Amino acid sequence: MILGLETSCDETAAALVTVGGEIHASVVSSQADLHARYGGVVPEVASRRHLELVTPVIRETLDEASATLDDVDLVAVTAGPGLIGALLVGLSAAKALAWARRLPLAPVDHLHGHVASLFLEPTVLEPPFTCLLASGGHTMLLAVDDRAWDGVRVLGTTLDDAAGEAFDKGARLLGLPYPGGAALDALAREGDPEAYAFPVARVPGLDFSFSGLKTALLYAVRDLPADELERRRADLAASYQRAIVRALVERVDATGADRVAVVGGVAANSELRASLPQATAAPLALCTDNAAMIASAARFTTQLDPPDYLRLDAYATAS
Ligand code: KG4
Ligand code: ZN
Repeated sequence: MILGLETSCDETAAALVTVGGEIHASVVSSQADLHARYGGVVPEVASRRHLELVTPVIRETLDEASATLDDVDLVAVTAGPGLIGALLVGLSAAKALAWARRLPLAPVDHLHGHVASLFLEPTVLEPPFTCLLASGGHTMLLAVDDRAWDGVRVLGTTLDDAAGEAFDKGARLLGLPYPGGAALDALAREGDPEAYAFPVARVPGLDFSFSGLKTALLYAVRDLPADELERRRADLAASYQRAIVRALVERVDATGADRVAVVGGVAANSELRASLPQATAAPLALCTDNAAMIASAARFTTQLDPPDYLRLDAYATAS
């Protein structure tokens, strides 16, 4: 059994997953409410909250699976990229647990984790495939040739904001609470996606750009009188979402790939899922950050024996 830990941003998560990819328990404790009043994640607040939550979340995970630490054969943990202080909490907890029981430890790249959400039972997707990874921190097109992270190549990435960031910033302009992606998705369902023609940036190759779109929404919101804005919020949300989804789908289509998968928080978006009917989308519960995907990735990651992992460090940015 693999015990996975994830603390890269504002979710404290633990999971128990078998070597065969079956999830026995997956617990995610979101700190979103704590950060909402600031309109985004406050790194120092996140680190402190992870510290408070990490042990209870592991305990709840073991309880949910009716397991104990005796059942754990491998500890897997996100080593980066993410908020460095937040990552260090998970990494330190993982080292302590593994070392106390002389277990091996597998450091996992968070982005590999998102891809590995597709390798879990009961719906395992076998490489090769082209993967759109769209989250709050990253937006990438990946060629996945193998289940190991070194079998994944980056075909394109965002030049500025991530798609999830665009959703969150747009949601904020429309007065929705942080993190606004899911709320904007819901509001968009009541609006007309053709009401506003928001620009979709066309950058060369398979890269993405979302910062211009955010500015276009800012101007549209600013130009509307308050009462009018209230009436047009759903139309603005629908049109804005349409522009983001169109940008993502265009790039996926441009790869010409016939086997496509979508992962990351934005893969939970209803319009994106509907716009890529031929694609395999990660199960909804595994789109946003969780530890089952980290344990899943650990199966295809080099494990370090005790005490080799004690000198491991976390990393904030993708290498
Ligand atoms: O993968 P994730 O949990 O965290 C990162 O690794 O960044 O992604 C979180 C992002 C947030 O920006 C959130 O607003 C967005 O995913 N998100 C959505 C939806 N659900 C979550 N965006 C659009 N539509 C959704 N339904
Ligand atoms: Zn993530």
